[in-house]
Parts: sequence; structure tokens; C-alpha cells
Amino acid sequence: MHKQVIRKLVLGITGGIAAYKAAELVRLLVKNGIDVQVVMTEAAHHFITPVTMQALSGKRVFTDMWDASIPNGMPHIELSRAADAILIAPASADFLAKLVHGNADDLLSTLCLARECPLMVAPAMNRQMWENPATQRNIQQLKTDGVTILGPDSGEQACGETGLGRMSEPEDLLDMLSASQQPGILAGKRILVTAGPTVEAIDPVRAITNLSSGKMGYCIAQAAREMGAEVTLVSGPTRLDKPKSVSVIDVLSAQQMLDAVMQHIDGQDIFISVAAVADYQPASPSTQKIKKSEQSLTLELKPTQDILATVASLPAPPFCVGFAAESKNLLQYAKAKRRKKQLPLLVANLVQESMGQDDASVVLLDDKGQHVLPRAAKLEIARSLLKHIAAILK
Ligand code: CTP
Repeated sequence: MHKQVIRKLVLGITGGIAAYKAAELVRLLVKNGIDVQVVMTEAAHHFITPVTMQALSGKRVFTDMWDASIPNGMPHIELSRAADAILIAPASADFLAKLVHGNADDLLSTLCLARECPLMVAPAMNRQMWENPATQRNIQQLKTDGVTILGPDSGEQACGETGLGRMSEPEDLLDMLSASQQPGILAGKRILVTAGPTVEAIDPVRAITNLSSGKMGYCIAQAAREMGAEVTLVSGPTRLDKPKSVSVIDVLSAQQMLDAVMQHIDGQDIFISVAAVADYQPASPSTQKIKKSEQSLTLELKPTQDILATVASLPAPPFCVGFAAESKNLLQYAKAKRRKKQLPLLVANLVQESMGQDDASVVLLDDKGQHVLPRAAKLEIARSLLKHIAAILK
């Protein structure tokens, strides 16, 4: 039901202290190009003013069932027909109960009842109200009715208690909203992703590493999860938050990454090797810290084992996807890598245009030729790449 792109959203705000977070949510939604129409309940006015919401959304805020300024005199029909989705954030316990029973005694509940579009709710309430069997019954019923429940989160509550019930943070709601729109094209697939740099020890305090941020691999893991895959992420050290519902294995060296990959490769449908694996490691790392001297120091390096090539040459390999980060001759080098490692798909990008950045532009090379993914946020690139893979596998 939630697979259409949301361009116009009705944001319903009900009466709860978390209504203050709705201001930030509107700001983020608008920033992401979504046209937001705010509808507030009477109770919501006690927590945040329509003026704030109007300033942030750039549109007048509706509250009143009997608004004479709507041409046909039916704001509940007019507003819900114009929307691609309705999101209620925060959704109070009382409002959830109303939705369950189909009550329609104010504008927001009436337009929920009159809607043709998907409905999502972000509950926000005291933990005991959340745990109450009545609320839990209502949540189950709403799920059965096809309503998407976003959150709630656990943590400190306005009442001073700690527990489950606080409204999810606006950033997380935005992520959940975009995740809910992803097609489930990877349902039932198992995907193994490597990401980040590796760290090769020289001695106990020094190492050889690289500048990979891990962003692309993490975006691919998150996007694959959102599309229904079961995802394992083998990650070198990064500063990134772990993607939700993804099994993460932390490693340091290329050897540890190889070991983790080989341990988990059985039964994988797809292997996406995004990690910037060191090509060389110190031949004999010192167990003691190397002391400074006047002499020049020569480090002997030996090649690491190529993880991707190892997986691709298994007797029954998963669908293998490699990355090639080049600083010049992009297509020429990338095509050679694809041939050498016998990969069905290789993603080529220029280091200076992507490394460490939040967006990238890449070229996909496969048996059919080349396919450019123009510059976009890495999460969007990840989604396009996974759609491309899903189409090939189909
Ligand atoms: N790769 C790997 N194991 C290695 C080295 C690289 O799995 N030991 C993977 C990377 O994750 C990436 C692809 O191989 O998917 C990169 O191919 P490679 O030819 O190794 O690229 P570079 O290391 O950039 O090679 P070069 O330095 O020759 O450009």
C-alpha cells in the first residue's frame, strides 16, 4: 500500500507534549521536497501554535471541520483527496482509540476516515499508557486495518519516567517514511556487504589504513534491508551508526574481513564488496612498538588476499558485485577489473567525486553494457543499484 512516492503529505498533530517535535519534522519534510499540509486537533493547540506550523510548512493550518473557506465546504474530503499519505505525529493514545473505532468528531479524525491514501501514525505517550492493554489492542487493530505504526521509541519521557512511548525523533521518522515507500523487491534474499576501510598493523600503535568512510556500504546495507533482504554487514572501523535490523560484524584487518566473509558466505544470494580492502599488509608486523632512530626505515609489504575474487571463484558463488574507485581512466580500469574478477556487475566511480562525501555518481558495468547513475545522495545511489541487481536476478 505504501509504495507510491509521497509528494503531498497531510501531517496531523494531536495533543501531546511531543507536538513540539512536529515543528522539526515539518522542517525536515519540506527540506526533502515534500509538500506538507498541517492539520491540528484542538488539543494540539495547547502544545504548539498553528502560527509555528504555518511558518514552517508555508501553508495555512487547518483545524476546523466547519471551515467556510474551502470551496465545497468539505475540508475532510478536499484535504484527504489531495494527499499521497497522512502521517499523524504525535498520535496520542486517545487519537489512536478514535481511529480504531472510526470516530469522526473533528477535522483530523474525519479526514482519516474519509481517506483513500495510506495512513501512518507515530504514537507518543507515557509508558504506562503505551503498555495499557487497551492501547496495545488498539495498535494491533490498527495494524490489521493496514495502518503503519512508526515507533514509538524508548527513553526519557516528559513526565520524568523512562520507558517505551516517546515519539520517534523527526530524523528517524523521515527515514521510516522513506523506508516504507521502498518496494519489497529483495524479500527472501540474503545479502552480504563489506564496507569501510581495513587497518593493517605495523606495530601495536601504528597501522596502514585508508580514507574510506564506509558511507556507501552502510547505505547499501540499509537500503537492502528496507527492500526486504536479510543483510549481514562486515565492516571495517567507521564513525557511522549501525544500520537498523542489519547484522553487523566489526573487523579491522583484510584477513579478519576475509575470515568473516568466508564464515558467512554460505547461503548468501548476493555479495556486494564495497570495502576499501588494503591491497598490502606489513609482511611481519612488530609485536613491540618500533623505536625512533636516525636510520631510514623500510617496511616490507605483502599482498593481501582478494576477498571479492575469492568469493567470485567459489564453485557456486552468490551474485557478486564489485566496486572500482579510480582516480583516472575510470571505464577502462573498471572494465578490466570486472573481467579479471569475473563479476556480473561492477560499480565504477571516481574517488575525487565520491570518497567521504554524502553523494556520488557511479557507472554500473554489466553484461549489457554501462548504465550511469547521476549524482545523488548515497542512499539514493544504493537504492538504484539494488533495483538494478533485483532486475538482473529476476
Ligand atoms: N577487494 C577485495 N579484497 C581485496 C581488495 C579489493 O574484496 N583484498 C574488492 C573491493 O572491495 C572492491 C574491488 O575489490 O569491490 C576493488 O578491486 P581492486 O582491483 O582490488 O581495486 P583496487 O584495490 O582499487 O585496485 P587497484 O589499486 O589496482 O586500482
